[in-house]
Amino acid sequence: MVEEQLLTLANMIDPEPIESLAMAYFSSQVLFVATELGLFTQLHGQSKTVVEVATALGLSERSAELLLNACVSLQLLEKQGGCYANTPVSDVYLVKGKTGYQGPYISLMQHYYKLWGSLKLALLQNGSLRSEFDDYVAQDIDWARKFIEAMHCGAELVAPFLVETLDLSSHKLLLDIGGGSGINAISFVKKFNQLKAIVLDLSSVSEVTKEYVARSGVADRISVMSGDYRYVELPPGVDAVLLSQVLHAEGPSVCRNILARAFAGLVPGGLVIVRDIFPNDDKLGPPAAVLHGLHWLMVTPEGNCYSKAEVIGFLQDVGFQDIQVLALPEPAHYLKVIIARKPLISTTQPD
Ligand SMILES: C[S@@+](CC[C@H](N)C(=O)[O-])C[C@H]1O[C@@H](n2cnc3c(N)ncnc32)[C@H](O)[C@@H]1O
Repeated sequence: MVEEQLLTLANMIDPEPIESLAMAYFSSQVLFVATELGLFTQLHGQSKTVVEVATALGLSERSAELLLNACVSLQLLEKQGGCYANTPVSDVYLVKGKTGYQGPYISLMQHYYKLWGSLKLALLQNGSLRSEFDDYVAQDIDWARKFIEAMHCGAELVAPFLVETLDLSSHKLLLDIGGGSGINAISFVKKFNQLKAIVLDLSSVSEVTKEYVARSGVADRISVMSGDYRYVELPPGVDAVLLSQVLHAEGPSVCRNILARAFAGLVPGGLVIVRDIFPNDDKLGPPAAVLHGLHWLMVTPEGNCYSKAEVIGFLQDVGFQDIQVLALPEPAHYLKVIIARKPLISTTQPD
């Protein structure tokens, strides 16, 4: 039994880290609701008083002032001379209609807020709440559209760094497996004029992919393939394969299976590119990567946050060579991609 002692100044350590974590969701909810109500869109290009914001959002003055002040405390807004204005980061990412708007991603996180309320259940039953949480992308096109829109706006921020890091100027055909909106394939094809691409995704998603590709301006060089990456026969003649944020959704044996089939489908010398949210090799940080591991426990049957060392192991297991870890350029240098090649001379593939 723990001995009960009174806390004294001498034995007390600062409880702030615990208190901050206990109420971290207060801040998330302020971001979710302010974005949903269109607060930052209202304040784009013009500062407003409490009364003006209250009128525009249909809130009481008391509610509006509390929300506005909370946003200032979280550095989403600034206040000067009785008026509230967007901070630079809010003005770039939270104004609806502007390129870079993260509303769909924030709305997806708001949706997952409910899911995270069931973390204990997922831990106790050791796995996915997919049956309890009826939102798997394969189920219907409306959910697929919402999910892909959210993935798209996040990926849109990374794609420029990805195409800067990887030189595909000597490649002919890129296969983007689990390509979602196709944003990565679209970005590569736009940068490298000789390149064509195929975006593979589940049938519910590929209907949405076709819409993004049609609007891309490079639709004549991108085709969309519908299928399940665990079973579908991969197209011939591919000399680069991209797996961006895909492997984390699968268990190790499916990861090896996808990579083995990519290896078999690639031409000799072909390139595989793996982009994901990698935790440190000890899996103790950074928090965003480690917390995603718990998220994948909840939403996938066997998903995990694989370290770079684990992914390198999968690549070696199926025969890839010349494996390198590349950092994306500043300010995205904390994001990494792993690249590897199929050997020019065929070697016997390990079992
Ligand atoms: C996290 S999203 C990543 C999308 C995109 N690659 C990116 O980086 O933004 C994962 C994608 O894998 C697709 N996916 C999931 N399971 C799949 C399967 N069994 N076969 C094909 N695609 C699948 C999803 O539909 C989704 O588009």
